[in-house]
Formats: sequence, structure tokens, C-alpha cells
Amino acid sequence: MPRQFFIGGNFKMNGVADSITSIVNNLNSAKLDPNAEVVISPPAPYLSLARQVANDNIGVAAQNVFDKPNGAFTGEISVEQLQDLKINWTLVGHSERRVLLKESDEFIAKKVKAAVDGGLGVIFCIGETLEERESNSTIAVVTRQLNAAAKELSKEQWAKVVIAYEPVWAIGTGKVATTEQAQEVHAAIRKWLGEAISAEAADNTRVIYGGSVSEKNCRELAKENDVDGFLVGGASLKPAFVDIVNSRL
Ligand code: PGA
Repeated sequence: MPRQFFIGGNFKMNGVADSITSIVNNLNSAKLDPNAEVVISPPAPYLSLARQVANDNIGVAAQNVFDKPNGAFTGEISVEQLQDLKINWTLVGHSERRVLLKESDEFIAKKVKAAVDGGLGVIFCIGETLEERESNSTIAVVTRQLNAAAKELSKEQWAKVVIAYEPVWAIGTGKVATTEQAQEVHAAIRKWLGEAISAEAADNTRVIYGGSVSEKNCRELAKENDVDGFLVGGASLKPAFVDIVNSRL
């Protein structure tokens, strides 16, 4: 079985009820690649709205989740609450949270674990900064981030994880990784999956690319062997998101 192409739309802290409804309606009425899995991630207050408006074939993801089941954790959202709203996915470890909210590898790994234990699919974001790339530590950084999650998850639990490789220097900058740069890191991630988890995880885990993906650059990237889809930020708010979903057609 080939890995199913996966496209995530990360709205970040953008949109209000009206604009989110119109983005979702646009997706509902578009002709989407029937072989692609599409998951949109609106801001938390609009998760329920997006779930109600989106067609059943479109998944909805939270942008974050907490690692504890309930209790005195002001401002946090639990796995159970997401499940209650029929939200089946969550992002975890986005670089904006790693950098701005100071989330550590270990904390992120605990959230991945809590989400998977609770039955959610996880879009697990990893990636290096420009400084780390320039000092040739890209593979070491993504391996460190992956190892933290591997400490928490059982080998079987990787079936619920989509790995999003998002070089920090490419996010929101218009500076997309070259097809070679993306393929090189994706191949290294797949090799890590084979060595650290299992041959099955290496074969089946989707490794998607994120960072300035647009309708212009998606087709070339999608041709690479180890690029199984995209996590799209800015362009997911625009009608061009449909072209990215359809980049393999
Ligand atoms: P971008 O964001 O597509 O706007 O670069 C990607 C992301 O942060 O997931």
C-alpha cells in the first residue's frame, strides 16, 4: 500500500467565524483529489464550527493539546475535550510554540503521547533553525526531536503520527526548501524510523513538508520519493490551498 498523500492546513491565529466558514465552504465545494487526506487546523475557538461546516472527508485538527487529562491548567485544552467535539487530530510541536512558548522536546513528546493514547492522530512538527542548518546540525536536531517522542510512544503508536518536517527558516518567509533539501531530510527521517522504530513504521509513516508551500512550488516537492504531503500555513487561508491538495493530480 502506498502512503496516502496528506495535506494539513494550519490557519494559525487567523480568521473569525465568517472567514473560516467561507474557507471551509470553498473546500467543501472544490474538487479535491479523492486519494488525498485533508486536515484543516483552525484556531481553537472555531474547531467546533469548522467540524460542523466541513464535509466528512475533511479532518479537523487542534493546533495544540495538553498532556494532562483535566484539572487546574488554565487556558489548556484536553484530549477528551477534543474528542468530545469530534476533533480527531492535533498538531504538536509547531516551531512557533517551541520558540515563542518555550516548549521543550520532552514536553512536546508528552503531549504527543497523551494525544495518541487518547486516540487522536498527531501532526508532529520538527525542524531546524537557520543557525542549526548553517552549522550542519539539521539531522542531529530532527533526530533529537524524534528521539524524545520515541521515548514516550510504543512502536505501534507511530501509526497515529504524521511527521511534519518544517525547517524554521522556511516558515512564513517565502523561502521554501529546495526539493533536494526536503528530500534529504525526509529520507533521513525515514531511515531513523527504520532504525529506531520498525521497518513497518519506515514504510507507512507519512513524512510531510512545511514551510512556504504554495500552489507554485508544491508540484515539484510532491514528486520527491519521501515527501508524502504538506503542512501549509499562509496558503491554507487562500483558494490556492485546493491546488496544493491536488498537487499529485
Ligand atoms: P507557512 O507555514 O506555509 O506559512 O510557511 C507553515 C507552517 O507553519 O505550518
